[in-house]
Amino acid sequence: MIKKEKNLENKLKKGLLVAIEGIDGSGKSTLANKLREKLESDNLDTILTYEPGDSALGKHLRKILQERDFELCGKSEFLLFASDRAQHFQDIIIPSLQKNKIVISDRMADSSVVYQGYGRQEDLNTIKTINKWAMQNIEPDIIFYIQVPLKVALERLEKRNSKPSAFEKEKDSFTKRLVNGFEAEFKDRKNVITLDGQQDAGMLAKIAHANIKLFISKNNLTITQETQE
Ligand code: TYD
Repeated sequence: MIKKEKNLENKLKKGLLVAIEGIDGSGKSTLANKLREKLESDNLDTILTYEPGDSALGKHLRKILQERDFELCGKSEFLLFASDRAQHFQDIIIPSLQKNKIVISDRMADSSVVYQGYGRQEDLNTIKTINKWAMQNIEPDIIFYIQVPLKVALERLEKRNSKPSAFEKEKDSFTKRLVNGFEAEFKDRKNVITLDGQQDAGMLAKIAHANIKLFISKNNLTITQETQE
């Protein structure tokens, strides 16, 4: 008997953690949404989450971080992101990985390394150590880095109607440090896949999806089960 695709549930042997990183305006959220749709149509159990803000605590922290009208020093800014991250891992990421889901997070630890480390010029090693602690030593299996020229990202942000966040109001020199930071951090990292963010969004999602499928098959992670008669 030929099994119909919709009767198959593609269970994974273990959870998969995927992070999407890049500067504001690089297209992270669009990619995250499209990727989730594609994985769901493969019957892979997938959740979409984000930093900062997806946990109950995170909702409050996100508001403080994005809409504040007072100065925060780089250290306390980082510690708020780290606090969001610790709760995010505890409440959302780890329980989902334990259920063998694919977790796609719109931003993760490297955003702190780049924004607070390179952008605010806080100590990189301290940030990395605290990140590791907050994440209970779990690292993403795959990081998609969406690379876009600064000019393109700024033009996209200008076209958005929403109020700019505290970070989008920063000077160009800050944003330039972010681009350099992502490039420096991701240059030799094994789990990073760099995507050309100037490509059409559909194509970008197709490439990212193919890379996840490749990772799953290379690591022999699928157990295919028949769920109905
Ligand atoms: P994001 O949610 O990606 O922005 P948007 O509201 O456009 O969806 O991120 C919010 C801002 O927070 C973004 O400018 C990057 C910044 N950020 C940091 O500075 N450090 C961090 O650790 C994280 C996760 C985000």
